Amino acid sequence: MSYVKYEQKDFVGMITIDREKALNALNSEVLTDLEAVLDSVSIDTTRCLIITGAGQKSFVAGADIAEMSSKTRAEAEAFSAKGNAVFRKIESFPIPVIAAVNGFALGGGCELSLSCDIRIAAENAVFAQPEAGLGITAGFGGTQRLARTIGIGKAKEMLYTCGKVKAEEALKLGLVNAVYPTDQLMDECLKLAGRIAGNAPIAVRATKKAVNDGIQVDIDSGIAIEAAQFGTCFETEDQKNAMTAFCEKRKPDPFVN
Ligand code: HXC
Repeated sequence: MSYVKYEQKDFVGMITIDREKALNALNSEVLTDLEAVLDSVSIDTTRCLIITGAGQKSFVAGADIAEMSSKTRAEAEAFSAKGNAVFRKIESFPIPVIAAVNGFALGGGCELSLSCDIRIAAENAVFAQPEAGLGITAGFGGTQRLARTIGIGKAKEMLYTCGKVKAEEALKLGLVNAVYPTDQLMDECLKLAGRIAGNAPIAVRATKKAVNDGIQVDIDSGIAIEAAQFGTCFETEDQKNAMTAFCEKRKPDPFVN
């Protein structure tokens, strides 16, 4: 039995963290299952991923506190490394990943959403980094990605106070891209994923890589990274197809992977 389900619809893959009884809390098994599902995704047939939590109440309520409670320092560091490896895989996944945040996104749940390219929240979404109240720091990249996403001051406020941030406030902070009524969340995420999947897939992948790699380096190096990705697109069928179609005032043929 796996704690992580995978469904594919057209070019969009949907990953569901399915441990509803524990509000989809991330124990070691869930992390292993999530990594296995990611490893099984075929880039030849998939252009966008959506990650969500099972049920109506929770995206992911954090790392599993019961599992963590008796860990030694070395075990805690190993657990952090395990989660970080999976979240880094999501962040650097070749295709865009959307977090469909359907309820609690606490601690490791907020961090999971931050490893995705885009966060879309349901009206019942609640974000927080409650770790300081549990006597620990964030451990799945929260101190790093939250600051990069919403700015250092607001990130520190969330991390130091453990305060809960509801969907509308998350939108104002730039923590999420959009908020929808809870029953429309998945349809809206599928629409967004469909719009991404409708563009040239190699160009989308090159764009993600340019943004992700460029953000790590100085502006001149970042521009060089972009220029190299731009160049590779000129060796694709999609570029020839789309630009020729524009010049001939017609729609391009369907894009290829
Ligand atoms: C383990 C969890 C859990 C968690 C919920 N559950 N969150 N189990 N780890 N993070 C379990 C509860 O124990 C309970 O199990 C069931 O899910 C339902 O939860 P309730 O508390 O009964 O529900 P409710 O009263 O509605 O409260 C929901 C909640 C609360 C506000 C989300 O569960 C909560 O505060 N959870 C912890 C949130 C948190 O602190 N997360 C950050 C963890 S630290 P039973 O068996 O009793 O029904 C972290 C660090 C990441 O994420 C980095 C690690 C390296």
